Amino acid sequence: MNNLSIPKNSWDAALYQDKHAFVWQYGEDLLKFLNPQPGESILDLGCGTGQLTEKIAQAGAEVMGVDFAPAMIEKARENYPHISFDAADARNFQVDKPLDAVFSNAVLHWVKEADSAIASIHQSLKPGGRFVAEFGGKGNVQAIATALESALEAINIPTQTLNPWYFPSIGEYATLLEQQGFDVIHAMLFARPTPLAEGEAGMANWIGMFASSFLAGLSSEQQIQVIRVVEEYLKPILYQQGSWLADYRRIRIVAIKL
Ligand code: BEZ
Repeated sequence: MNNLSIPKNSWDAALYQDKHAFVWQYGEDLLKFLNPQPGESILDLGCGTGQLTEKIAQAGAEVMGVDFAPAMIEKARENYPHISFDAADARNFQVDKPLDAVFSNAVLHWVKEADSAIASIHQSLKPGGRFVAEFGGKGNVQAIATALESALEAINIPTQTLNPWYFPSIGEYATLLEQQGFDVIHAMLFARPTPLAEGEAGMANWIGMFASSFLAGLSSEQQIQVIRVVEEYLKPILYQQGSWLADYRRIRIVAIKL
């Protein structure tokens, strides 16, 4: 398997694991929808540093974790040497034997070519196999994206091509799944305000980790200035009692291959 598609980003596996643990901590909720059973073959698509892959393994399933970023795979292997991890592309991966389930937490908002990812997932499943996913849905981090775009436009930087994310509505994503032969049995879009670690530095750290494409091409001074403007703009909306609360909205899907 190779190259799970995550656009250029400053993916630092150690930083991700230490400072952004909320990504998989929230994902534990999604495991209830997967409900992995002993002996099932399951792929964790976009496994990051492997924490949820390990939970699936603990249920007795035969799980493999894949991720685009080699640094994540390296860290996942270091964390859980008894589990198989490999690099792969969500838009274009193949498996040796059809799977019982594909699980994916907080990854598919990086894959703008949703059709290709759905086709790969579909061909990897057995008939009756399930696709259980959660990622950013319509309106996700809208205030943060708007603040970044406004701050950049204020210094005459065009922003049309900088947004790396795909945040679909339920209608849009369910339609894509149905068109490719899935039965969508559960779909939900919900706000999940997400506290960021590190107090006042939390927003700058989040932008550095997840929104660095907006800052590509700027000098270090410009980056610092843009982040300062973004923080000022967002403080009245997303900063409370010494902590940032990111305006996350999640789409959660369970679909069955027909
Ligand atoms: C999310 O999990 O919703 C997300 C993470 C990073 C950037 C944008 C969205």
